[in-house]
Amino acid sequence: MSESATPKGPIGRFLALPPDSVPKTVFVAVTLCLFASMIVSAAAVALRPVQEANKLKDKQVNILQVAGVYEPGIDVTEAFAAFEPQVLELATGEFTDQFDAATFDDRAAASDPATSVALDNDPASIGRKANFVTVYLLRDEAGELDKVILPVHGYGLWSTLYGFIAVEENGNDIFGLQFYQHGETPGLGAEVDNPRWKSLWSGKKLHDSAGTLQITVAKTATAAGPEHHIDALAGATLTSAGVDNLVKFWMGEEGYAPFLAALKAGEL
Ligand SMILES: Cc1cc2nc3c(=O)[nH]c(=O)nc-3n(C[C@H](O)[C@H](O)[C@H](O)COP(=O)(O)O)c2cc1C
Repeated sequence: MSESATPKGPIGRFLALPPDSVPKTVFVAVTLCLFASMIVSAAAVALRPVQEANKLKDKQVNILQVAGVYEPGIDVTEAFAAFEPQVLELATGEFTDQFDAATFDDRAAASDPATSVALDNDPASIGRKANFVTVYLLRDEAGELDKVILPVHGYGLWSTLYGFIAVEENGNDIFGLQFYQHGETPGLGAEVDNPRWKSLWSGKKLHDSAGTLQITVAKTATAAGPEHHIDALAGATLTSAGVDNLVKFWMGEEGYAPFLAALKAGEL
């Protein structure tokens, strides 16, 4: 080979290699990977605000649904404006203005040691419980309290289920239950989303006439009577047991009991 045809420097030698050589193949593969990852990263960053907005809208739709005021095609933001968010201190059952209810992050509060406690007795398998929770009040046209929407969560079979229970203004009658996030199996545990099963909750009573918490999800009837009993999902006993545990936990002393007592006493 003549001296003028010899490639100069590492770049020259690289360019002179045949296209199917190992260095050129590796170079193309790495460049392509870097380019693709840059596009994916840019898309993830650019779409984050849209995802956050969609997540918020989905939560609002679920609150409207559990309160029975959702209709397909409605303006969700406008309909949601009828709800009054309040940050509730669970231990006292009273609202607090320590936080802004419009921006309070329940999930962040539940993992922050300053605003949560580790649970010794943990039937809902949630590990920690926030001391403060955002609840939503719905009033009628006269301004009287109609319903309260209470967030609940707890472990099913495969996942933590996040949802809401709508309770009537008397603090005892359930209007509805709805989960907006879970990872239970479609056709089995995911039947918690089945409208027919959800409709079983409407009109059930949390407490008996003596004030004892009696609400139960079980396969068979309970001694407390049908007004406190919701049939467990067929073929999904473990998810049903998770729902039973989480509902009892959140409606009990560790959860909303002080708030429900205040509702019963007509203090809102
Ligand atoms: C692949 C697979 C997924 C399952 N997913 C669930 C589930 O999401 N929730 C549940 O309770 N049981 C689920 N099961 C069934 C449980 O293992 C268990 O059999 C069932 O909860 C018992 O309910 P039963 O007594 O009503 O039959 C699943 C089983 C299999 C094989």
